Amino acid sequence: MARKILAAGNWKMNETPSETKALIAEMVKTCASDTVDVLLCVPAIDIPAAVEAAKGSNIQIGAENMYFEESGAFTGEISPAMLVDAGVKYVIIGHSERRQYFAETDQTVNKKVLKALEHGLVPVMCCGETLEQREQGVTMDWIRQQVKIGLNGVTPEDAKKVIIAYEPIWAIGTGKTATSDQAEEVCKGIRDLLRELYGDDVAETTRVLYGGSVKPANAAELFAKEDIDGGLVGGASLKASFGDIVNYAK
Ligand code: PGA
Repeated sequence: MARKILAAGNWKMNETPSETKALIAEMVKTCASDTVDVLLCVPAIDIPAAVEAAKGSNIQIGAENMYFEESGAFTGEISPAMLVDAGVKYVIIGHSERRQYFAETDQTVNKKVLKALEHGLVPVMCCGETLEQREQGVTMDWIRQQVKIGLNGVTPEDAKKVIIAYEPIWAIGTGKTATSDQAEEVCKGIRDLLRELYGDDVAETTRVLYGGSVKPANAAELFAKEDIDGGLVGGASLKASFGDIVNYAK
């Protein structure tokens, strides 16, 4: 079975609830597609507005983060049950900005991935190397470690549901996209690792996305690669023209 392409947006810390309502009302039109899955991951406070605005459309709403505990004294955090109750199906875990500014580690990523799966949420688990690591030639060692620890304890059945997003840190928000060959090389490496860990079935089912300056102009070339099953899109998902990425094949 061929893997379905996923165009996933990551709004980061942008858009108020009222802006969310207006923007998604436009995106419902531009992002219509029968062939590509569409997901918008939005700030927690925007989730109710986003779920409401996307109702009846093909746009799914996700969160950008969650905590790995069920409930309790964790001021400021959002639990998986809260996300599920709000109508969320997907959650980004371990984005490089969370690792850089909020001290997330491969271990906390792993706890969050397991907790998300326990609640029926699909984790969009991020990994990616710095420019320095790329120049040192350790990209694949680094990515393998991030993915291996992130998936520690995840069953084969659950591993098929996880979405892995490869986002080279040097390509995020910089306008510097990895070449499609560079992106494919690492996404294929991730699939090879899935094969080692879980076998062919999981490796062929699990979706691996590329992220880092994906835009309408480069989406088609990236998504045409054998092991790239779509994109995690930051800046370009904040405009209705995100629909040009969803409809990249046209
Ligand atoms: P970008 O961000 O598309 O703005 O580079 C991607 C991401 O951080 O998910």
